[in-house]
Amino acid sequence: MLDRILTVRVDRITRLTPEVSSFELVHPAGRSLPAYEAGAHIDVHLPGGFMRTYSLARAPQPAVQGVAGTAAGTSGPARYCIGVKREPASRGGSAALHERVRAGDLLAIGSPRNTFPLQAGARHHLLMAGGIGLTPLLAMAQQLARDGAAFTLCVLARSRALLPFADELAALGDAVRLHLDDPAEPEKLDLRVLLAAPAPGPGTHLYLCGPAGFMQAALAAAAHWPEDAVHLEYFAPPEGDAAQGEDQPFVLRLARRGIEVPVAADASAVDALHDLGIDVPTSCAQGVCGTCVVPWTAGEPEHRDHCLSATERRHKLALCCSRAKTAVLEVDL
Ligand code: FES
Repeated sequence: MLDRILTVRVDRITRLTPEVSSFELVHPAGRSLPAYEAGAHIDVHLPGGFMRTYSLARAPQPAVQGVAGTAAGTSGPARYCIGVKREPASRGGSAALHERVRAGDLLAIGSPRNTFPLQAGARHHLLMAGGIGLTPLLAMAQQLARDGAAFTLCVLARSRALLPFADELAALGDAVRLHLDDPAEPEKLDLRVLLAAPAPGPGTHLYLCGPAGFMQAALAAAAHWPEDAVHLEYFAPPEGDAAQGEDQPFVLRLARRGIEVPVAADASAVDALHDLGIDVPTSCAQGVCGTCVVPWTAGEPEHRDHCLSATERRHKLALCCSRAKTAVLEVDL
């Protein structure tokens, strides 16, 4: 099924740090927006033909008539908030938002999707954010605080001046721990010490989001954690992720349609499906966002995504990047 495209109005832009601004998006006619869960993201279509994915940076407000932040008499939230860092090496996405988008502009967005959900059975949630990776984790922390759940939010930033959403973090109180690179700041965290044991014991789940270097360091420190207890949200595929050796062709069997689609060695499953006019929604095309994830039912996939957990991979795969270890791979399409 194709994602729904919505038109929203940029209601407010707030400079949070010299590099990061928040953009608050509302329905142009004041109606509610589709509901979402903490950890969700949206695709944003930008001036210049760019499309980028941004996490929703606030926990969804419960819809109560007449309460600020909700649309009166409706069931969904009244606004989405994204936090966008102006990347010096921007390929156009963050630069387009920062330089060309103004309050009052209309933007097309996709409806929220969540590939980074909170784990309902966890006894403690350890949320670790590097830089602007804070955005989904802030929403998750707000949700956990609202639910009265046990959590710690660790935030790594270069300095206090470059810490976005400082007011929201302060509102979370002692559950937030900061690490500021600035030597003048006393707040320091040691990832290796923090992740040395899955404290405070079994049932702790770890959530990581941040730039490649942060993810690499945190994953190395958490290498001994149970695979199913570690949840990742990447901005982009990790460096050195290029596939080794030559890809092999395979056949994608579409169980519901009863047809087989050959996938050439130099094409993706999504390419092969699109060539036949079979629409599979995609966004990042890099195995990061989860837009193209479908259930698989037979054969054996060679997973190359960075959005599915070990548990999810047992029955789902990302069609934009994953291939097959078997000659035939069956998916539920
Ligand atoms: S399109 Fe983003 S994971 Fe496939």
